[in-house]
Amino acid sequence: MTAHFMVIGNPIAHSKSPQIHQAFAMQAGLDIRYARQLCPNDNASFIAVIEAFFNGGGIGANVTVPFKQMAFEYCQKNGQLSSNAAAAGAVNTLYYENDVLIGDNTDGQGLVNHMLSMDWQLSGANIAIIGAGGAARGAILPLINAGAASITLANRTLSKAQALIDELRENNAAISAADIRSCETGALTGDFDIIINATSIGLTGDKLPLSDDLTCGAAYDMMYGKSLPFLTHFESKGAATSDGFGMLLAQAALSFLLWTGFAADVKQASNALNH
Ligand code: ATR
Repeated sequence: MTAHFMVIGNPIAHSKSPQIHQAFAMQAGLDIRYARQLCPNDNASFIAVIEAFFNGGGIGANVTVPFKQMAFEYCQKNGQLSSNAAAAGAVNTLYYENDVLIGDNTDGQGLVNHMLSMDWQLSGANIAIIGAGGAARGAILPLINAGAASITLANRTLSKAQALIDELRENNAAISAADIRSCETGALTGDFDIIINATSIGLTGDKLPLSDDLTCGAAYDMMYGKSLPFLTHFESKGAATSDGFGMLLAQAALSFLLWTGFAADVKQASNALNH
């Protein structure tokens, strides 16, 4: 019998998730249908679509922009949140377990898994994250759980970075015990093991005000798809670099694992997708 999955978002036509999950299903020998589900951008429509999907026998759903927070709130009221989803304040993966709706977030662990697959050392690493929006927020707990020694959260608006740290500290013991600081993006200096761009700047064409005194062993941009100035900047300084396509694959693999129990070979899927 065909198992049904979907990704819900707005816009959604560009999503590569159906091809990615079909590649995983091929490896697993599973017959799946994975649909792109466009949804009007309001809470009532989101809930109606999610409930219709699961009432109709759907197995698992991915949630993308702009619904990740709505999915979080829906699971808070009607289901259970994983610790990563609770810390991220956002849900990207939905499924039922023993009649309970589970909301998880695989984005940050996907980032960690992709870095580890490239042999980037996270245990003991001093990491800088630029940006204090949803993408940064979701990465912090998985990076700490992977053994990061320190995290410096840099943002254009310093108060937003500090508010995020304060909130995360209050709600999570592991984050509360970790070495996390904040600074303004232009004031970020020194040498880090890894610097992550978690801003939405790749989409705007703007440039980050990066200090000449800022260096790193490896630079990661959560965006993917076109030439990214953030990566070119650090590449010219001798750093290893990666865009976020591997993170997209890795977060999908984690969702697929939660839904089917099958651990997909991400590298093999990446080759099959020609990336
Ligand atoms: P989301 O929560 O959806 O990830 P967001 O809250 O708008 O989106 O966060 C986007 C991040 O990119 C923020 O850290 C934002 O910085 P501010 O908090 O100062 O707004 C950052 N960002 C977006 N455009 C930027 C730009 N042109 N220069 C520097 N930082 C930028």
